[in-house]
Amino acid sequence: MKNIAIIYHSAQGHTAHIATHVLQGAQGFPGVRAERIRAEDLARTPDDLLRYDGVILGSPTYLGGVSGPFKTFMDATGQLWKTQQLKNKLAAGFTVSSLPSGDKQSTLMSMWVFAMQHGMVWVGNPILPEQQVGVPYDEAANRLGSWSGLMAQAGHGAPADAFVPGDVKTARMFGRHFAETLQRLTDVATHQPTQEATA
Ligand SMILES: Cc1cc2nc3c(=O)[nH]c(=O)nc-3n(C[C@H](O)[C@H](O)[C@H](O)COP(=O)(O)O)c2cc1C
Repeated sequence: MKNIAIIYHSAQGHTAHIATHVLQGAQGFPGVRAERIRAEDLARTPDDLLRYDGVILGSPTYLGGVSGPFKTFMDATGQLWKTQQLKNKLAAGFTVSSLPSGDKQSTLMSMWVFAMQHGMVWVGNPILPEQQVGVPYDEAANRLGSWSGLMAQAGHGAPADAFVPGDVKTARMFGRHFAETLQRLTDVATHQPTQEATA
């Protein structure tokens, strides 16, 4: 079994809700075990990260970046950075914010830089926006058009589960894609070349 951690912070429940759908998407893939972990908890025991083959990072967008508790988790991995013990693990990111853009891209970029500094391998969100093939906007996968990571939008002050169906669908596809990529890369890494291939 391959292990995936979905590490998230959520003050009002929106990011936690999307994390659950990412989790369900990843868990649906054979040979993969996934779990949700609060960034605040992992900040106290960052070495727990070593248990996982892949990590999916999730934070609300606060003022165009990750939230304070999520940054505290990131900073708690400093010792792991010094020893590059997370090198070659897979990483991906998602963010939730209240505005259609809201500078979510900036949040994903700080997650990406974090992963790069740790020597991790970044996995994106390769889904063509379905509104382009006639799916109604609110039901369309990747309606917000984000390939570098998953974006979802929760209306200001809306209940934690008040996402349009397209964002829920995208979260599940994103989780599944990450799990599938992890399995495929593992297969390649463990593949023994045939004699013809090495001749
Ligand atoms: C301090 C703070 C800063 C925020 N900054 C942004 C922002 O830059 N862009 C945006 O679209 N929404 C912003 N929001 C809205 C949150 O991203 C949004 O409410 C999100 O759903 C919160 O996620 P959570 O329910 O998981 O805590 C901000 C909210 C707070 C509290």
